[in-house]
Amino acid sequence: MNPTKRRTVIAGNWKMNFTPDEATAFINELKPMVAGKDNCDIIFCAPYVTIPAAMEAAKGSNIKIGAENVHFEDHGAFTGEVSAKMLRAIGVDTVIVGHSERRQYFGETDETVNKRTKAALAAGMRVILCMGEVKEQRVAGITNEICAMQIKLDLAGVSAEEMKNVIIAYEPVWAIGTGLTATPEQAEEVCALIRGVLAELYGKEVAEATTVQYGGSMNEKNCAELLAKPDVDGGLIGGASLVAAKFTAIVDAAQ
Ligand code: 13P
Repeated sequence: MNPTKRRTVIAGNWKMNFTPDEATAFINELKPMVAGKDNCDIIFCAPYVTIPAAMEAAKGSNIKIGAENVHFEDHGAFTGEVSAKMLRAIGVDTVIVGHSERRQYFGETDETVNKRTKAALAAGMRVILCMGEVKEQRVAGITNEICAMQIKLDLAGVSAEEMKNVIIAYEPVWAIGTGLTATPEQAEEVCALIRGVLAELYGKEVAEATTVQYGGSMNEKNCAELLAKPDVDGGLIGGASLVAAKFTAIVDAAQ
């Protein structure tokens, strides 16, 4: 973390978990546990149907609620999709784009991730853009090339001004939901590389101001070491974001 240069963001990705009632109970449990811990932004990205209940429960607290995906068109014949306009209409201003599970199971490509990113930014939303290598790519020694390529493709056409609303989440796919975490050194190496690519694309000032999170089996035990790295500006947390005590420990490590 480098709080003098950029905001630390601790975000939960609930994935396909929590009904509205379950989310309400979770937020009510968490609220007092994270109250006043303002040295980081706290946000949970929730399933669409759970968003209104979670927002209601989070009202007046330091917890924000976002979405897990967004379509690139405003409206139309796109069964099962939700637009940025619709999310904005219910007060959602942050959205995850390009999560590896979307890429892996739902056919998302760098092209669709780029379109979704641009549409969300055009609607004035903040985007948590996920990227990262799969195991075979790390083993083949091409992590840096893959990550640089993804950043360039996913951000194609995004302006320096719009970068104020972009958070990058480096999520090595082999570390997601597997219990395998990147070592702090591995996380730092790629987060620093990403910042270098951002500097190439947008200049040093933008690169230094952009929050770059790590995600992939971050938990209450390994968070402090990861967050201590200068280019790791927060976490995108799956499993541990479903347990109030675990998530609170990560927020504490960011204080
Ligand atoms: P886990 O923390 O469960 O590994 O999930 C990470 C993730 O995919 C967050 O988006």
